[in-house]
Amino acid sequence: MRRAAMNKIVVAKTAGFCFGVKRAVSIAEELAERGGGCTLGPIIHNRDVTEKLEKMGVVTVNSPEEARGTLIIRSHGVGKDVYTRLSQLGVDYIDATCPFVEKIHKIVAEHSAKGAEVLIAGDSAHPEVQGIIGHCSTAAAAVNSMEQLQELVNSQKSFGQNALIFVAQTTLDMVKWTEFKNFVKKHYTKVQIFDTICSATTNRQTEAASLAKNSHIMVVVGGRHSSNSRKLADICRAHCRTYFVENAAELDTAQIAADIESFSGDVEIGITAGASTPADIIKEVHRIMSEIKNDDMDIDFMAEVDKTFKRVYIGNRVKAYVVSVNNTEAVVDIGTKHSGYIPADELSANPNLAPKDVVKVGDEIECIVTSINDAEGVVYLSKKRVDAAAGLEKLVEASQNNTTLEGVVTAVVKGGVIVTCEGSRVFVPASHTGIPRPRKDEAETPEELAKKLETLLKKTVSLKIIEVNEARGRVVGSIKNAAKEAADAAKAKFWENIEVGQKFKGQVKSMESYGVFVDLGGVDGMVHTSELTWNRIKHPKEVVSIGDELEVYVKSFDPEKKRVSLGAKNPDDNPWTKFLKEFAVGDVVKAQIVSITPFGAFAQIIPGVDGLIHISQVALEKVVDISKYLSVGQTVEAKITEIDEEKARVSLSVKALLEEASAEEEAAEEAPADAE
Ligand code: F3S
Repeated sequence: MRRAAMNKIVVAKTAGFCFGVKRAVSIAEELAERGGGCTLGPIIHNRDVTEKLEKMGVVTVNSPEEARGTLIIRSHGVGKDVYTRLSQLGVDYIDATCPFVEKIHKIVAEHSAKGAEVLIAGDSAHPEVQGIIGHCSTAAAAVNSMEQLQELVNSQKSFGQNALIFVAQTTLDMVKWTEFKNFVKKHYTKVQIFDTICSATTNRQTEAASLAKNSHIMVVVGGRHSSNSRKLADICRAHCRTYFVENAAELDTAQIAADIESFSGDVEIGITAGASTPADIIKEVHRIMSEIKNDDMDIDFMAEVDKTFKRVYIGNRVKAYVVSVNNTEAVVDIGTKHSGYIPADELSANPNLAPKDVVKVGDEIECIVTSINDAEGVVYLSKKRVDAAAGLEKLVEASQNNTTLEGVVTAVVKGGVIVTCEGSRVFVPASHTGIPRPRKDEAETPEELAKKLETLLKKTVSLKIIEVNEARGRVVGSIKNAAKEAADAAKAKFWENIEVGQKFKGQVKSMESYGVFVDLGGVDGMVHTSELTWNRIKHPKEVVSIGDELEVYVKSFDPEKKRVSLGAKNPDDNPWTKFLKEFAVGDVVKAQIVSITPFGAFAQIIPGVDGLIHISQVALEKVVDISKYLSVGQTVEAKITEIDEEKARVSLSVKALLEEASAEEEAAEEAPADAE
């Protein structure tokens, strides 16, 4: 019988070390180079790696008490008590807890401190789950099957009744997690659920399921004690014949050959591996698989396997998972063997933002590879460039639709400023910034201009896009155009809504001898000098200054001529009202002469109310030239002889008092004679 053609082997892109394991192993290797130390438990579930490390001087210990030299806390993490014990013993340690696990520690610590009980989906015997429990300060339970969950609900009636949070071990099977969540939501009404399966696990499981569906045989490579590897094997078994091996030596080549024989036609084989499986073990498994003789096989499998290991090139656009963020960079997992770094200035085009303002642990972002250092296994990336490319499209759209955008002024450059908008740099020429420009006859040095432009730095501004050159990636904007459009819209709204009596608060923008102009929000109104105060003034500067804020009301307006007349006098302070309350005809007042005219003199009775002393009322005799009797500033006694409420006029008479005095004098002279 002719053997089947084994013509395809696919190695999962996500096979092998995840970010957290890669990081922990490289920390252990560095420690070995520095003279050795120990790890608290095996650094990963792979004997080959742990044996190699032991030979290099990094041994495995089982408790802080056994520590020899510097101790590494592995990616699974540990409970709070372990940190305490290490401090008590004075053990020097390096914390290689995976950031995804650290995130769960924070969640449970924070919520249990507030009284919530903690339910964990995961294997209670797994060190990661034990570490999580070690950060809980309230009751915590771990369940790894629907039976255990049901048992918990039945036996511990009070558990989680007040407040409960539900988290998952980072490597939990996603299907199981969905089942658990559905059940938990029904039985614990107050539960708060956190999806804490790490992205590396999610991607690995999704790819394994899809590969297994399309394969006749799957080989899962991983440690017996590796929970994520065991789960991968379970996932694959649901779809096809699956071999779970720790390394190439465990491959049952005879059985696999027999299996291949049993299929008719082409046979597809998939290989995946757990998070703690080194790449050279996966390659060896692939080599052995390809050596299982096949007459029709003519493919260079090593070349194929190399192809299936994900590679990166400068300029590649890749998906990255944020695994940690510090003040200078974000560390990301891009699904390759490399450690990925995005420096702070490549995270965002806005230099005012710190890395934590841009991304957080667990985010999935798109980046561009900017440099690769294969020797050190490091890749540098830029998020800023991806954002800029997407932003450029938005800027083109905004320019076509004349949309107003918002941005932050991030730099002063020759002749203008740079506004970071939609992740792109937009140049705004000085003439479009809206800062006051010198008149044609005025000179301005570049230093003076730069100083003015610096006042805009870090400010959020609205702008219009006035030019986009996609080929050159050059975008020009105008803050002035956006401001003008906003001002025009405000003016139109103003004229639509204006009413007589409407009140405004506005700034005095300019001043003339006849009044002041007040900015009512894009439209200026005029307050005549006589409308500024109840008191008699000659010039507005006596009561206001430019820049003062005035409360005004609309006296009249003309939309055609775009004119608004305003008043600023408060009716409650009207001195005429006050005068009427306090004075009556016949009262004698002391008044100060404020002006002299040919027909009489005006005298101030109270501020804002003047009375007229008609020329005929100045003296007993006939007066021709008032200035011979009265002078401005002089205080005189006079009698109120008339009050015209309608016209708000007061008549005063000095003469009336003089007549009364003279009459009294005469009476006094006559009185002694009578008595005699
Ligand atoms: Fe971390 Fe997920 Fe790996 S939790 S150690 S990245 S499997």
